Amino acid sequence: MNILVLGSGGREHAMAAKIAESPSCTKLVIAPGNPGMANLGRTVNVALSDFDGISKLIFEEAIDCVVVGPEQPLVEGIADFLEDAHPEVLVIGPKKYGAQLEGSKAFAKEFMKQYNIPTAAYFECTKDNLDEGLKHLEQTSSPYVLKADGLAAGKGVLIISDLQEAKEELTSMINGKFGEASSTVVIEQFLSGIEFSVFVLTDGFEYVLLPEAKDYKRIGEGDTGLNTGGMGAVSPVPFFKGDVKIKTLHSIIEPTIQGLASAGIPYVGFIFFGLILVDNEPMVIEYNCRMGDPETEAVFPRITSDVVALFEAIRDGKLGSAELEVSKQEAGTIILVSGGYPGDYAKGLPIHMEAEMSGSKVFHSGTSMKEGQLVTNGGRVLAITSLDTNFQDALKTSKNNAQKIRFEGKYFRSDIGFDLI
Ligand code: AMP
Ligand code: GLY
Repeated sequence: MNILVLGSGGREHAMAAKIAESPSCTKLVIAPGNPGMANLGRTVNVALSDFDGISKLIFEEAIDCVVVGPEQPLVEGIADFLEDAHPEVLVIGPKKYGAQLEGSKAFAKEFMKQYNIPTAAYFECTKDNLDEGLKHLEQTSSPYVLKADGLAAGKGVLIISDLQEAKEELTSMINGKFGEASSTVVIEQFLSGIEFSVFVLTDGFEYVLLPEAKDYKRIGEGDTGLNTGGMGAVSPVPFFKGDVKIKTLHSIIEPTIQGLASAGIPYVGFIFFGLILVDNEPMVIEYNCRMGDPETEAVFPRITSDVVALFEAIRDGKLGSAELEVSKQEAGTIILVSGGYPGDYAKGLPIHMEAEMSGSKVFHSGTSMKEGQLVTNGGRVLAITSLDTNFQDALKTSKNNAQKIRFEGKYFRSDIGFDLI
């Protein structure tokens, strides 16, 4: 298969690295990619919003399969566009309708209600029922969870303890705080528990369960401070076994896949189940229509079988009998970020590191080349993953290597996995 990976972050780097290992991958093209991926295949600077440019690239490179990394192009309909433009090409990533599992919180909640999938109780609020929404807040207990319906660059979820502030925020969201994305707001019951992430690859009927992971979203150690895209991850998750695993499969994953099939929602791609364990019961916090970042950097290195074989199984309608082999080794990923992130941060700072880091894989998240020098180009700069018999030792190696990499303002969390020990 000639494969095109779309994206430019650590997630896509980790996916591309695994795809490149496959004997079935005859050519790997990555758009736009980043300098870390340049030795895996051809990186081509086409923007993900440039559907015509991507179509041209597919034609020129005789691409058979497109793997879409991030959610934005999926929610904008890239899979629908490619189905029209290149019907023979297999797209790993759902069409616009299915991508609403992530692109519309109200759609996802309605879907879960319909298929009895455990999730927080909710109230859907728009301009037309804002008064009812405000009353609903008065009748709910603190903290209040407000979610912009649409994509809001990871900033659309507010958790507020003060009722008056929650009412003001709800009003301001409905009035355009996050633009069109918050013209509908989902008010959710607050759930308290430990969060974890489970992933499947599905053709909309069958699925393959990938290794699960736990990510660490807050900037500060001990899970304090502002939310980020993710500061690190571990895989596997020690408590995802026995009863918890069985309940997750039977009450969440299977009903989701069956729900897609019975609702006639075509869905080929990854589903990321953002879950929370409440009194030993797994519940859905959110769906994403893609893999997680940085979870992928911990999950994909643990896969020991051929991932391209899974794409071929989807193409051939044989995903139900496909096998995935996973290493018993545990993964620990640490993200190196730019000083100031998730607020303002500088870009273009020179990065000094060895080409190979002993015991770790380095995935590039936000880097670029400037006059032959590798420089920072984002808040999250590099992901460092190590494998070992346990995630604590894996994280020690990742941390040792994180210390060796130099760029101005470098910051990372030293306590990834702290709550699992
Ligand atoms: P989401 O974008 O829906 O994943 O929300 C971002 C983060 O907000 C989640 O990872 C949770 O930490 C938190 N969150 C979302 N919904 C709830 C909820 N109903 N109860 C408690 N925390 C939540
Ligand atoms: N790490 C969370 C996400 O990818 O959304």
